[in-house]
Amino acid sequence: MASTKDWFETVEEAQHRARKRLPRSVYMALVAGTEKGLTAGDNVAAFDEITWRPHVAGLSPKRDLATTVMGQQVSMPVLISPTGVQAVHPDGEVAVARAAASEDVAMGLSSFASKSVEEVGAAHSKLFFQMYWVGSRETILARAERARAAGATGLIMTLDWSFASRRDWGSPPIPEKIDVKNALKFAPEVLRRPRWLATYLRTGSIPELSVPNLALDGQEPPNFFGAYGEWMGTTLPSWEDVAWLREQWGGPFMLKGVTRVDDARRAVDAGVSALSVSTHGGNNLDSTPGAIRSLPAIVDAVGDQVEVVMDGGIRRGGDVVKAMALGAKAVMIGRAYLWGMAANGERGVQNVLSIIRQGIDEALLGLGRSSVHDLTRDDVVLPAGFTRS
Ligand SMILES: Cc1cc2nc3c(=O)[nH]c(=O)nc-3n(C[C@H](O)[C@H](O)[C@H](O)COP(=O)(O)O)c2cc1C
Repeated sequence: MASTKDWFETVEEAQHRARKRLPRSVYMALVAGTEKGLTAGDNVAAFDEITWRPHVAGLSPKRDLATTVMGQQVSMPVLISPTGVQAVHPDGEVAVARAAASEDVAMGLSSFASKSVEEVGAAHSKLFFQMYWVGSRETILARAERARAAGATGLIMTLDWSFASRRDWGSPPIPEKIDVKNALKFAPEVLRRPRWLATYLRTGSIPELSVPNLALDGQEPPNFFGAYGEWMGTTLPSWEDVAWLREQWGGPFMLKGVTRVDDARRAVDAGVSALSVSTHGGNNLDSTPGAIRSLPAIVDAVGDQVEVVMDGGIRRGGDVVKAMALGAKAVMIGRAYLWGMAANGERGVQNVLSIIRQGIDEALLGLGRSSVHDLTRDDVVLPAGFTRS
């Protein structure tokens, strides 16, 4: 379908629309990577180095994209990766959940999301709740149980982010609260983006800075800085903590942020059922290789014991197919759907998922594969040194 005001054809176009629509600080917070942005850049660039080995005859007239991940049957091997502190659209994660439900893909909800797990759980049943290690074991467990009661069927524990705050071009400012002083300070860049402002004004809301999923027992939700303070004040988790939370949860449990084979093995020893090879979208230590480069070795080491997912740099369906040819069970997307939401709310997220779905199908067709489950390393060519090992 050709591009129209309400439809874009590529994720690149969604990004372009997001750049034009969002106030600069909000847009920069989405594209940000740590320091020089080497890892954020390599997450994307590494996919360009992987090339195809297409067939030309005997191609499959029908392709099967469906799979199962973290115990959920889904229409394609693409999950919504959890992202916090969005300020992209007033409907926030509820819009993302509705789009994910209508495309039948599973969604990870950040514990730093702007909407409560109850609201999001009401919109989508294939929901995984993502947690950092924030607070005491008792508090962490109570938050996980709150998510379970709201319908979350899996838990994602993210351990890789990210205490590195520096960005060479200067980090986007996040106001501590929305008051008159801050409204005036941000007014010039917001007024340059009237459509974004109008979307919020229409709903009578302002960008949320509270973190509802960290509150318990009817407490007032902390604001971002309060939540961040609690996080930074928490003793860093050990592998015993990972094993403990996994055991308490009992159901599907993903450890997100693994890039090393030895960590992947320890995650398996801790009992996780899935892990995501991830660099937090280039927001952890800059100079870590793009996530896709670390995937093959981790698949070789633990792929027969746990579900190995990857995220970072997925911008088209072909990227998903490349990751699966290298052994990923599925991928997660971050910025791609945030740009879609910025461009056109819930429909923009659906638009992105539909582009990716079509791209997966086309890549399978060209490779002569009838299912995502049939992909092998023989379908792609990796240049020497690709895995940086
Ligand atoms: C704005 C933003 C916020 C994020 N917040 C979280 C978060 O709260 N929890 C988490 O596990 N990962 C978070 N991530 C990382 C994503 O889940 C994912 O790992 C990353 O975006 C994948 O890379 P991609 O954006 O290139 O697809 C965030 C990423 C972005 C861009």
